Amino acid sequence: MKNPMDIVDAQLYVRILENVDRAVVAIDSEGRIALFNPAAQLYTGLSERQSLGRHFEELFSGQAALLYLVRTAVQDGRSISDDENILLHRPSAAPLPVSASVSPIYTEDGDQEGVVLIIRDLSRVCELEEAVRRSDRLSTLGTLAAGLAHEIKNPLGGIKGAAQLLAMELPEGSHLTEYTGVMVKEVERVNGIIEELMDLARPRAPELTEVNLAKVLNDIVLFQKEAHRGKDVQFSLQLDPSIPPIQGDENLLTRLFLNLIKNAGEAIDKKGTVQIITKVASEYHLNQPGERPAPLIVVEIRDSGRGMREAELDKIFTPFYTTKSRGSGLGLATCQKIVSEHRGFLKVESTPGKGTAFSVCLPFLR
Ligand SMILES: Nc1ncnc2c1ncn2[C@@H]1O[C@H](COP(=O)(O)OP(=O)(O)OP(=O)(O)O)[C@@H](O)[C@H]1O
Ligand SMILES: [Mg+2]
Repeated sequence: MKNPMDIVDAQLYVRILENVDRAVVAIDSEGRIALFNPAAQLYTGLSERQSLGRHFEELFSGQAALLYLVRTAVQDGRSISDDENILLHRPSAAPLPVSASVSPIYTEDGDQEGVVLIIRDLSRVCELEEAVRRSDRLSTLGTLAAGLAHEIKNPLGGIKGAAQLLAMELPEGSHLTEYTGVMVKEVERVNGIIEELMDLARPRAPELTEVNLAKVLNDIVLFQKEAHRGKDVQFSLQLDPSIPPIQGDENLLTRLFLNLIKNAGEAIDKKGTVQIITKVASEYHLNQPGERPAPLIVVEIRDSGRGMREAELDKIFTPFYTTKSRGSGLGLATCQKIVSEHRGFLKVESTPGKGTAFSVCLPFLR
């Protein structure tokens, strides 16, 4: 007879397998799938019905790295794992970066009864690594550019002074004053860009106060509606009313969201939408040693504009990368810096021809 404790344990095991955020796949001694937990279904895009009873060679055909791990564990009766370099290919979604480990299952008598494959989703880890790499790259570039900017500012001042002197020497009403005017204006524009660049490279501690995000975003939208009056751009705000004021630098946060919302509007050619959504992220927490994990607040800026290809997404945070005739290309580099200064991170997803979504994740610090 079964011990009642076994039943309790069995239920507990089932609950654990159903709730754990790792894909757990049990493969019997014949090589057939005996268990395929909900996370496995989510990661692979295959249902329990599509997977149970099938041979692993068939289910994972084309997934060489996974097959290698499973075959090795089956043949050698030992545990094996790969902590990186595995891309899980899925029927109708982008490949998922994962780590995997396979261990043999032994009966009480010491016979091998099959293996268990455990897969961990690394996509969030990869996103975070990418954000860190980006901000590292930015700080190196920023330092270099700031040195250069400093050298350019002096001769620029000379050119401007000379153009102004020239203007004074010109006879009253000369058509040439138009040219000296252009010279002064353009020098001022370059100067503005350089100031912005030096600002980007300057280390600076944000001045923290309580910031009401909803107010900041509402004000920007009001202002941006005017800026895009020539086109049919619908702005909409979906703000979670439960988000309390956050600790942040109001000036910097305003610049951050203004840059992103401005870009979103500019990505729209004639007609489109810009949605601004705030929410509390349940899937991320900021962990700092000695502090309680801080929840993250996410501000999403979604536009239905031109979108970008993968290759373009790689470049947009680089200072001076721009596709606009009057753009400085410093907007997103500045955004990246402001987000890092607030100990948050930035994510971007885009589909050419469909639109772009930038997500700003900020820790909710009290
Ligand atoms: N929402 C978006 N949709 C499509 N492309 C975008 C979007 N946001 C940014 N980009 C691309 O990234 C480039 C860099 O953006 P960034 O804000 O850094 O500079 P910019 O907008 O060109 O210039 P500035 O911000 O000084 O006006 C843009 O020129 C554009 O090509
Ligand atoms: Mg911009």
